[in-house]
Amino acid sequence: MTKIIFDNVFKSFDSGLRVLNNLSVRIEEGESHIILGQSGCGKSVFLKCLLGIMPIDSGDITVDGISVRDENCYQEYLRKFSILFQGNALFDSMTIKENVIFGANRRNKDRKLCNKIAEEKLLAVGLEERVFDLYPAEISGGMQKRAALARAIAVEPEILLFDEPTSGLDPITGGVICNLLKDTIKSLDVTTITITHDLRVAEFLADRVSLLNKGNIVWTGCISDMQKSGNEFAENFYHASNVISLNKKAKI
Ligand SMILES: Nc1ncnc2c1ncn2[C@@H]1O[C@H](COP(=O)(O)OP(=O)(O)O)[C@@H](O)[C@H]1O
Ligand SMILES: [Mg+2]
Repeated sequence: MTKIIFDNVFKSFDSGLRVLNNLSVRIEEGESHIILGQSGCGKSVFLKCLLGIMPIDSGDITVDGISVRDENCYQEYLRKFSILFQGNALFDSMTIKENVIFGANRRNKDRKLCNKIAEEKLLAVGLEERVFDLYPAEISGGMQKRAALARAIAVEPEILLFDEPTSGLDPITGGVICNLLKDTIKSLDVTTITITHDLRVAEFLADRVSLLNKGNIVWTGCISDMQKSGNEFAENFYHASNVISLNKKAKI
């Protein structure tokens, strides 16, 4: 079943910049879908429009048939989502466990139950009890990412959004986090959308990938087909990404 539909979506800014230009895409229930594109191509705008925190000019976005524009159903619409923010967005005055309780509390109001869910999720993402009562500033970037993931899944969402999940992490930690995200996706019955410019992240996590360029999804498919898709932009993106990673290995 199709979970999310972008139907001829337009979004411009006052500057005249048209960031989403007649964008259409369908995301299936339970799939891990990647929105892949260069910096500045509109990935964050795509996410904000999906969440309804940035209004679209025309077209429609629906989740389970509910339109983002339907004011009466917006709370129900928004409750379906949880997001792992690029910068983690942990509350720095709350302990790690309190941060995750905050997530659990979006779904459950029972304090004891939220505490139990928080502890379960923290252990599930590989954090040990000794960090539960520390503050975000007291743990490493990788651990913060784990805590942010615990908070995101404590919401028990239908749709998980990962915004540039490995940016700001060193390659080794990034790899560990990617593995953790993959395990999380597998173990939960959720639809996930990952926003990234990194082909390797896409290769690792995607069931299907949609390539965003100039405000439009120019190609959707399985990443293994990207290289020989017959789509010029998709093939160029694939090859350029591989050249970049080769250069990285060579430490140029
Ligand atoms: N609130 C805004 N007002 C004006 N321009 C914006 C706004 N948000 C984003 N943009 C512009 O839209 C384009 C896409 O931005 P963004 O979605 O953040 O790109 P990215 O793919 O890197 O996430 C950029 O040119 C950016 O400057
Ligand atoms: Mg962005």
